[in-house]
Amino acid sequence: MAQLWGGRFTKETDRLVYSFNASISFDKRFYAQDIKGSIAHVMMLARQGILTDYEKDQIVQGLEGILDDVESGRLEISDKYEDIHSFVEATLIERIGEPGKKLHTGRSRNDQVALDMKLYTRDEVHLLDNQVEGLLHAILAIMEDNIDTYMPGFTHLQKAQPITLAHHMGAYFEMFRRDHERLQDIYRRMNTCPLGSGALAGTTYPLDREYTARMLGFDGGPTLNSMDGVSDRDYLIELLSALSTIMMHLSRFSEEVIIWNSNEYQFVEIDDAYSTGSSIMPQKKNPDIAELVRGKTGRVYGALNAMLATMKGIPLAYNKDMQEDKEWVFDAIDTTKGCLALFTGMIRTMEFRKDRMERSARNGFTNATDAADYLVNHGVAFRDAHGIVGQLVLTCIEKGIALDELPLKDYREISDVFEEDIYEAISLETCVNKRITTGAPGRHAMEETIALYRKYMEEY
Ligand code: ARG
Repeated sequence: MAQLWGGRFTKETDRLVYSFNASISFDKRFYAQDIKGSIAHVMMLARQGILTDYEKDQIVQGLEGILDDVESGRLEISDKYEDIHSFVEATLIERIGEPGKKLHTGRSRNDQVALDMKLYTRDEVHLLDNQVEGLLHAILAIMEDNIDTYMPGFTHLQKAQPITLAHHMGAYFEMFRRDHERLQDIYRRMNTCPLGSGALAGTTYPLDREYTARMLGFDGGPTLNSMDGVSDRDYLIELLSALSTIMMHLSRFSEEVIIWNSNEYQFVEIDDAYSTGSSIMPQKKNPDIAELVRGKTGRVYGALNAMLATMKGIPLAYNKDMQEDKEWVFDAIDTTKGCLALFTGMIRTMEFRKDRMERSARNGFTNATDAADYLVNHGVAFRDAHGIVGQLVLTCIEKGIALDELPLKDYREISDVFEEDIYEAISLETCVNKRITTGAPGRHAMEETIALYRKYMEEY
């Protein structure tokens, strides 16, 4: 047991209490951020005349040495310390003696941990955003290749109207683009520096909080209320909410990949590198990655719920409950990063069976709306047109054929408005390419959208 406090205690901490209280097993993850924050703090203390330059140099060198040694594996972060802050401080004192004892001047572990967690998550937001960027590139590449790949668009998982694969993928581009914007927004709002808030009420030392905020890259400057500075966890809740939304999008996409990869659909074939087999059924190639992404979504939602529940009853300012923020957030970040990486790899290597998609679009009466529109264009009221085409569909179902295979004679038996040009009007190509309003799948509209997306990615 190695802890930073003990002066006022007359008994040793109970072993169980000690391990229940300790956080080193998980907060050691942000040792680099802890050291970086301490270096900024000490530089500021010297600048303000609170420490001498000699003391500062000793401490900074000592801290840099600890960082190097942890990074190279020469120094192991031992679980005998209560938390990462204690480990760094105790190791510093062990290594440089007296000056090390001044590191914690004008600081509390409350503002220290608030800073470390912010520095850590801020870096992670960047990494997550890079992964979202990679996914958007992968989606855009599929779009560019599939402007003319016809497929059925679905509502209620029933074939509805013909679209293209580019259009379908574009919906996901929109979702992940909003995710990117959410991450950026969170980054901007969280970017204020809690260091200098002290335990809760600031300190009596003349700290220069603007200086440390600037040094640590907090564009928003220091936090403006020290109680909030040590106890704000909103940014983690926002982050977990953004991660949950990313996972929800990945999960929807995964669900489609699973359906499309099924024997019945065969719209896609997942690459061997991203599928797994069955131990008993030799014929199987399972979409495990997509299923796992779908499955892990619940885990990230769980983190968001846990964090909200943890925070709801906490009076100002710091309370130990807040130590519970870490494992959830770390797990949610790791999970989302893992899922983004695997999912992106899976769709990059996935084969789209264009022939199967097109055949499916031809065989599901997806052009029925267009047949009705044909009648409307010839003066028939939409409601009547709807009824006429309904009868035609019924005839086709009886005969086991598609609308474009029904002879003109049969069309005219139901309505003499139909002429030879009905076939042209309900061809897949026409159905798709007449839809050219902004956001629609028609080639012209899609090319414009793709140009906007290309520009978006250039400016990412
Ligand atoms: N391990 C603690 C946490 O994660 C660090 C802050 C401890 N502060 C305290 N007053 N005990 O929240």
